[in-house]
Amino acid sequence: MAVEKSFFGNLDESTPIYFYKITNKNGASVTLQTLGAGIHSLFMPDREGKLADVVLGFDDPKYYINPDYGYQGLVVGRWANRIRDGKFTFDSKEYITPKNQGTWTLHGGGRFSFTPWEVEETGENFVTFMRFSPDGEDGFCGNFTMRVKYTLDDNNILRLEYGVLSDIDTVANPTNHAYFNLSGDKNRTVEDEYLLVNADYFTETDENQLPTGELGEVKDTMMDFTALHKIGDNIDVPFRAIIEGIGYDNNYCLRNKDGKMQHAATLYDEITGRKMEVFTDLPGIQVYCGGWLKSDYTAGKENGAVSYRRGVALETQFYPDTVNIKDFPIRTVKAN
Ligand code: BGC
Repeated sequence: MAVEKSFFGNLDESTPIYFYKITNKNGASVTLQTLGAGIHSLFMPDREGKLADVVLGFDDPKYYINPDYGYQGLVVGRWANRIRDGKFTFDSKEYITPKNQGTWTLHGGGRFSFTPWEVEETGENFVTFMRFSPDGEDGFCGNFTMRVKYTLDDNNILRLEYGVLSDIDTVANPTNHAYFNLSGDKNRTVEDEYLLVNADYFTETDENQLPTGELGEVKDTMMDFTALHKIGDNIDVPFRAIIEGIGYDNNYCLRNKDGKMQHAATLYDEITGRKMEVFTDLPGIQVYCGGWLKSDYTAGKENGAVSYRRGVALETQFYPDTVNIKDFPIRTVKAN
C-alpha cells in the first residue's frame, strides 16, 4: 500500500504541516508529520485485532512546538537529552549550545523538533525525512544533514533509521520522543503498564537530572526493571536519582555498548494484550513517564490528554551529556 499524504494544519500563515500515513496489510498504520519528522499516531491491534492509537499527541500542530508539552512524538537532534552548562569540548574546541532549560541544554535546544522537515523520499511502506543544519547552528559544528527513515512492515514492526552526514567531524545523538500508552484508553495512565528494561545500571544524576558520570546499580532499588512489572509499582518510592512526584525520567545503560542491535525494553498492557518490544543499536534508553506534564493539561488527540503520566517515552540514545563525560560510550560522526 502506498503512503498517503494529507494536510495536518498550519503552524503559522506560511508553514503548512503535512501528514504521511503508512498502512500495512493488517490495517495497522503510522501517521508521520513533517513537523519534527514526528510520529503523530500509531494504530496497533490488541489481542482481538482491534486497532487503537498507542501514542500521545495533538490535533493541532501548534501544541507540538511548546516545549512544556514534552516533544510529543518528535525527532530530537542534534543532541538528545542534557548537556551540562550548555557547553562541551570536542576535538580540542569548545562549543556553546543553548541553555534552553535551567543552566543546561535540553534536546539540542529544540530546533530539530520544532521545525518542519523535508520529505526526501516515500515508497510502498516508508518515508524518509531530511533536515539540513548549517555549521554552527545552535552551537554544533559541521554542515550537517540528518535523515530519518520510517518503515512499517507487515509484521507490525516500525523501524526508525537515523543517518547523519557532516563535512567535518562532529557529534550527534538523535532520538524519537514518542510517548506510548498501549491501552489506547484515554482514562488510563502508564502506571498500569508493564515494563522491562534490559539494563543493570543507570546513569546517576544530580538534583538537576544532569549525569554525575557515575553509574548506579538497579539491583534492589526502585529502578530495577530487569523483570517485567508495572511501572506504577515503585514509581513513587523515594530514590536519589528521582525527583519527588516526577517518577522515572532516567537513562538506563543497556548491556551492549558496541553498536550491535539489542533488545532494550518491553512494554505490555495486560488489559488489551498489546505488547511492544524496543530494539536499538545505541547504548542507552531514557525512560520518561511524563511526570513533568501537568495533571490539568487538557489538549490532546482522541486517545486523550497529554497530561501527567499518560505516556511513557522510551528514548534510545547515547547517554545524556556524553559529550562532557569521557567514560560514557560514544561513536562520533566522521566527516564524509
Ligand atoms: C527528559 C524530560 C523532559 C522531556 C521533555 C525527556 O527526555 O528527560 O526531563 O521533560 O524529555 O522535554
